Amino acid sequence: MVNVQFSIIKMKVLVATQKPFAPVAVEGIKDIVIGAGHEFALIEKYEEKAELLAAVKDANALIIRSDKVDAEVMDAAPALKIVVRAGAGFDNVDCAAATERGIVVMNTPGQNSNAVAELVFGMLLFAVRNRFNGKAGTELKGKRLGLLAFGNVPQNVARIAKGFGMEISAYDAYCPAEVFTRENVKQVMSPAELFQTCDVVSLHIPSTPETRQSINAALIGSMPKGGILVNTARQDVINEPELIATMQERTDLRYLSDLQLAAHDEGLEKLGDRYFATPKKMGAQTAEANINAGLAAANQICGFFKDGCTRFQVNK
Ligand code: 3PG
Repeated sequence: MVNVQFSIIKMKVLVATQKPFAPVAVEGIKDIVIGAGHEFALIEKYEEKAELLAAVKDANALIIRSDKVDAEVMDAAPALKIVVRAGAGFDNVDCAAATERGIVVMNTPGQNSNAVAELVFGMLLFAVRNRFNGKAGTELKGKRLGLLAFGNVPQNVARIAKGFGMEISAYDAYCPAEVFTRENVKQVMSPAELFQTCDVVSLHIPSTPETRQSINAALIGSMPKGGILVNTARQDVINEPELIATMQERTDLRYLSDLQLAAHDEGLEKLGDRYFATPKKMGAQTAEANINAGLAAANQICGFFKDGCTRFQVNK
């Protein structure tokens, strides 16, 4: 908790989303904000950063998705007190710049996890059934699934994978052993072991200096024959040149991603149907996930303004 003296002051809460929430989620956010006595504002589908800079001018709180909030945005918003990333990964917010300016940054962990987990299986079924082209494909039942990280999204992936009858392993350096036991998932001791022993590897690591470019030739090239790599995490965790080169050598491997490669055209040209990427990041793009994450963000902001609650702050 922090000591906030402005609990009865009307605050301006701006929802700034290049990729809009479902309308029902926007309505829900608006109701919460107005119901708490604050002002609601919305900017969606903006194309230029200048539009965001103008919109934040008098905002006290921001609700964003993957929208980039850097020092320039913060400097354009002198009254800004809190930024809530409606979602899990907050690599799009310059947390150090926020801390320097006394701005609280939060995320809404777990709120969109099921949506992302379901997309993993959407892409997997599409791939193993040969993009529904009529040729005989394969099944997920009995295949070995490896989860790289074991937070909210991969725990949901594991739950669904059990229904498919997959054998599930996971690696997470930060997750206590009891969680693997509780979820009945085999804990492996290194990413290398996961890649070597799993037919499907699903990535759920955040983008950090430690993880960027970490999915490299050594890992990808060690996958069993017919291996499938699924990425619903972040594009920059992939070492793209090594992914493309390895998959050119290993023509049995496939890469399915909710994030286009920076070298998307090159990927399509060199890997053909073995590379699939959604045209726009779709993992969290369901009405349910938008409602869960958007309303959580609104409630967190109102709680912060009401009594200084800083639960879910990520820039401490
Ligand atoms: C997240 O980190 O929560 C997901 O990547 C969803 O991102 P999005 O809100 O931009 O769809």
